[in-house]
Amino acid sequence: MTTPQDPMVHLIDHPLVQHKLTLMRDKNASTTSFRTLLNELSMLMAYEVTRDMPMQDVEIETPLETMTARVIDGKKLALVSILRAGTGILDGFLSVVPGARVGHIGLYRDPATLKAVEYYFKMPKDMPERDVVVVDPMLATGHSAIAAIARIKALKPKSIKFVCLLTCPEGVKALREAHPDVSIFTAAIDRQLNSHGYILPGLGDAGDRIFGTQ
Ligand code: URA
Repeated sequence: MTTPQDPMVHLIDHPLVQHKLTLMRDKNASTTSFRTLLNELSMLMAYEVTRDMPMQDVEIETPLETMTARVIDGKKLALVSILRAGTGILDGFLSVVPGARVGHIGLYRDPATLKAVEYYFKMPKDMPERDVVVVDPMLATGHSAIAAIARIKALKPKSIKFVCLLTCPEGVKALREAHPDVSIFTAAIDRQLNSHGYILPGLGDAGDRIFGTQ
């Protein structure tokens, strides 16, 4: 569903999504369960995000006769993961859309300025023919998402969507202002950012929790 204020912001409030997100927020969740939940939650979110995906007709044979049936034009989809935490969402999406092409963009947050610094960029071919879904679990200051989307836009894809697990009003505002043509899909819009660029109440550092590096 969309938020009442902004039809480009989609809050995925399905009970299964909300339940799993709550389990992930718990600081006592183990790395294993955090990862498993993220994978499951990403699959559920992929269901919503891909709702308007282009389809094509193919001819198949059922055991009884030939028919024309519809399949997803999966090769036209490019999933772009913002390293490193985007990997967690990417895996769940790929279980649902295995034919999608994948791009990676490596960005780290400069701890002093909180600005995004790029260290890696590799995209699939034929970007002008592709619908792009950029994934990153946390839309906090928006700096990484804004920088990643600007780089991807230079390759002129057909469309861009942004998917995160969690965001906050500051992140949504920054991304919507920088890229008003990009729709946002999220499972929650939390209260606020703290002075270190973390979302409150949030779930902590998503990368550390996925990879067990804290
Ligand atoms: N990145 C994270 O991993 N967590 C936050 O709360 C904000 C940015």
